[in-house]
Amino acid sequence: MKGIVLAGGTGSRLYPLTLSLSKQLLPVYDKPMIYYPLTTLMLGGIRDILIITTIHDAPLFRNLLKDGSQWGISISYAEQANPKGIAEAFIIGRSFIGDDSVCLILGDNIFYSEGLTGLMERSSKLLTLQGGAKIFGYYMKNPKQYGVAEIDDNNNILSLEEKPKKPKSNYAVPGLYFYDNQVINIASQIKPSINGEIEITDINKIYLKKKQLSVEILGRGAAWMDAGTHSSLLQAGSFIQTIEERQGLKIGCPEEVAYRKKFITKNQLMDLVKPIKKTAYGRYLLDLINIKSMQS
Ligand code: TTP
Repeated sequence: MKGIVLAGGTGSRLYPLTLSLSKQLLPVYDKPMIYYPLTTLMLGGIRDILIITTIHDAPLFRNLLKDGSQWGISISYAEQANPKGIAEAFIIGRSFIGDDSVCLILGDNIFYSEGLTGLMERSSKLLTLQGGAKIFGYYMKNPKQYGVAEIDDNNNILSLEEKPKKPKSNYAVPGLYFYDNQVINIASQIKPSINGEIEITDINKIYLKKKQLSVEILGRGAAWMDAGTHSSLLQAGSFIQTIEERQGLKIGCPEEVAYRKKFITKNQLMDLVKPIKKTAYGRYLLDLINIKSMQS
């Protein structure tokens, strides 16, 4: 399974923060925003990852994430000239996906929950075996600004709507999606919505019509945040700070995930630590090497 992090867009709701810098490079407490979705893919064992960025900020992303080999993964890059919609990820990523299945995560989406690793691994394995598509549902007080899934008691999806004025349910669809290879052709057939964007919800509707779309509800213990507004960016940062300071464990740290998932060895982690060993981040990584019993 391949992974795509979609990190383009205009970020207009974050202006003026995003006038000269992509939203996904902004800090969420102690790390660049893109570290969080990237590590979510890594937790699922997805090691071949495409980052789609704006043309303007492509060099900054390359400088930050490099080719991924430092974290035992492979990172490729592609650019989106204009923000034509989330579903364009599969058109831009067509040759990268090849004949594989793919997991798409939005570059401003942060997931944190007990069992996230298992959920990602399970979803990736099942989809590779069974095909089709998988989305998630997250109960929200006000899901109006998202895709909304109406779901019955047996976890069947009854309808999907993009940013409905009157949502038929409280289940928003987070920016994490698993698809089989059909997604490339489906995306190329979709016409832009009245917003001028190729909508991911339209892709999901086609899978739903084919009876090939499944949904898993993220329970109330799960945190899902998109850091796309000033207030949600601040809330996400405070959330990460609270958990990290309380536990002394980092969320969304690619070096740590790479080490725990055995993508890199202790010696490779040591090489990453050396140049930054005087920083708090470096000391945290050094502790990982030294304290074997650290909570996994
Ligand atoms: P959005 O938050 O929907 O859009 P945006 O980032 O352009 O922000 P705003 O609405 O404030 O103008 O996008 C969700 C994620 O998907 C985000 O990480 C940006 C990314 N994205 C793209 O890379 N290309 C696109 O064409 C769109 C619509 C989004």
